Amino acid sequence: MTAKNLIFSGLFCLLSFGVTQAQNKSHLDKSKPTEERIDLLMKQMTLEEKVGQMNQYNGFWEVTGPAPKGGNAELKYKHLRDGWVGSMLSVRGVKQVRAVQKIAVEETRLGIPLIIGFDVIHGYKTLSPIPLAEAASWDMEAIKKSAQIAADEASASGINWTFAPMVDIFRDARWGRVMEGAGEDPFLGSKIATARVQGFQGDTKADLAKVNTIAACAKHFAAYGFAEAGRDYNTVDMSNSTLYNIVLPPFQAAEEAGIRTFMNSFNILNGIPATGSSFLQRDILKGKWKFDGYVVTDWGSIKEMVTHGYAKDSAEATEKAVKAGSDMDMESYNYVNDLVKLVKEGKVNESLIDDAARRILRVKFELGLFDNPYKYCDEAREKAVIGSKANNDGVLDMAKKSIVLLKNDKNLLPLKKSGQKIALIGALANDKSSPLGSWRLAAEDNSAVSVLEGMQQYKDNTLTFEKGPELLLQKATFLFEVAYNTTDKSGFDAAKKAAANADVVVMVLGENGYQSGESRSRTNLDLPGLQQELLEEIYKVNPNIVLVLNNGRPLALPWAAKNIPAIVEAWQLGTQTGNAVAQVLYGDYNPSGKLPMSFPRNVGQCPIYYNNYSTGRPIMTDNNVFWSHYMDVENTPQFPFGFGLSYTTFDYKNLKINKAAFAKGEAVKVSVEVTNSGNYDGKEVVQLYIHDVAASLARPVKELKGFELIALKKGETKTVTLTLTEKELGFYDNEGNYLVEPGTFKIRVGGSSDKGLESSFELK
Ligand code: BGC
Repeated sequence: MTAKNLIFSGLFCLLSFGVTQAQNKSHLDKSKPTEERIDLLMKQMTLEEKVGQMNQYNGFWEVTGPAPKGGNAELKYKHLRDGWVGSMLSVRGVKQVRAVQKIAVEETRLGIPLIIGFDVIHGYKTLSPIPLAEAASWDMEAIKKSAQIAADEASASGINWTFAPMVDIFRDARWGRVMEGAGEDPFLGSKIATARVQGFQGDTKADLAKVNTIAACAKHFAAYGFAEAGRDYNTVDMSNSTLYNIVLPPFQAAEEAGIRTFMNSFNILNGIPATGSSFLQRDILKGKWKFDGYVVTDWGSIKEMVTHGYAKDSAEATEKAVKAGSDMDMESYNYVNDLVKLVKEGKVNESLIDDAARRILRVKFELGLFDNPYKYCDEAREKAVIGSKANNDGVLDMAKKSIVLLKNDKNLLPLKKSGQKIALIGALANDKSSPLGSWRLAAEDNSAVSVLEGMQQYKDNTLTFEKGPELLLQKATFLFEVAYNTTDKSGFDAAKKAAANADVVVMVLGENGYQSGESRSRTNLDLPGLQQELLEEIYKVNPNIVLVLNNGRPLALPWAAKNIPAIVEAWQLGTQTGNAVAQVLYGDYNPSGKLPMSFPRNVGQCPIYYNNYSTGRPIMTDNNVFWSHYMDVENTPQFPFGFGLSYTTFDYKNLKINKAAFAKGEAVKVSVEVTNSGNYDGKEVVQLYIHDVAASLARPVKELKGFELIALKKGETKTVTLTLTEKELGFYDNEGNYLVEPGTFKIRVGGSSDKGLESSFELK
């Protein structure tokens, strides 16, 4: 090309670029329907720009500081300017978000705004309890509110997309990520999924455009919670029955609640990594369920398909992922490296790229990012919202509702408010970071109210605190293993002395907040370090112990369950932990939580869950050994699903079903009278379980199909009516068809999965 030609073609480019820019604006016309706006934008996009939308990078440099250097930062920065990045994750704070957004909007050819993702798992800076704890509240309004607070703070910090809720169902407490979910039951899990989606996004699609809502993400699609032996990232081997009846329902509930994104998962299912699974992503999610948002991969999961042995190289992994319906690549670099080439070689049809880009743009339009890319970048709002009094009050309320009273034998609880000598023991009692739990990326260390601080609010008792031995060898962090002290017993003597002088001993024991979460699997479910020994030593000098557990998963504590008179499950309750615990211990809040996951007697029972099938030999009949059992421990869990005590007691009577037999399609009304028969006002979760006695595929011995949280004043009685429809009475066959079969259904209604009043009805 001659110099003259060059100048001419340069001028031509500039001119035609100018024309493109002018046309560009048409998609910014708010009055046009979203789909038309997407069309207008898509028409102007090159293949590279569409693929760019499908690429997501992790935050890579202090954007408001000097230009990025080292690692992949320079490359990412270049790609950002070139319009090859559709989303970034873990950039946070108005200043930082504005800086990256400015590059996308002002420096790229089409100015398409970024969507900014972050793991807002149980709050942003003001933390709610870990999700498993929240699930123990069985309080959908409170859970929704908690997600609203999280969305409010995250959006005030520039973020518009959370990688939550995790709606995985799981049955194995060894898996560290149980802290992130809603427990073992698909019915409860589905209700919670809906509450969380509505909390983050609002109740309607239009709410997504508000400044204080953010797009949610149902993860990890699918079956990630069934990692073999509870080891994170491990293989999943699952029946279709479990997939359709247990794993998928909460995802479907999230979809029905209008969730805008899904994240796929790291695991293999039937030999195919979820990221490469068209069965999951195309057939079920985008096909059967008609999901029109987009799927982001889990971190690096496209490239991991090579490691799994499902793709021979990066290009093949890319091809398989995009064909399977993975729309956005989180940090694998595969799409940005390979996709354009694969389309040009004819290996990937461009229509797949169009579909993925459309989905991503759709969510950006719905969020209102094209109308104002900086809408989440308001310093004044950031300052006002984050850490506000209202948000702290909200997470405190959630924290109290999440506490489960597991044992209260000698009525040690509630504690008397005056004239008592109380010894508070345990390193976790004055820890201000551990109660924040895992996934607290934006929260400050030491920002939780400790149990000690909470207890100090009650001034009319004499409170003595003794830490006991150190819990950890070094500070726990997000990136590394937690190291416990197992040898240094200094602190034992002082703790014993304090206990011996006290009327009541409150011991705060459990796991450090970073002992659960991603890649935090355990083979023991005990009290780590020297804590069990400390508990037994203290018991020798004063058995009046209230054990307050801090943990991110069910623990197996048979000795404590047998010997310790009062046990309070206080999980990791977030920023307001200490206030919540103290208010419950002193009876200013009567605990009402119920376990969302079975607590085993020992780890050898895992996976253990309430909605199991009957074996052919469930009980001993012939006085011999040949029945389904262990020789060393009972089959039942230590504390079952749905279990939780109160300072008051509830009596159930007059269980009624409105008819004895029902035609298909008729609603079954189950009513029961519940009386608060104790000495305190309180709340109870009335639970309804069904058992389809004989079906074309065996059904579990019990399945939760209804519940209601009620408040009863001392002495008050309420009639609770729960309704069963076809939605609750049917099940999925192994091909994923939903069946409602005639026959006998047994029901049980009570305050826990292991007991209640029983009755039955016929479905014709
Ligand atoms: C986790 C996801 C998380 C993502 C981004 C992954 O390692 O599995 O749940 O959202 O990282 O932080």
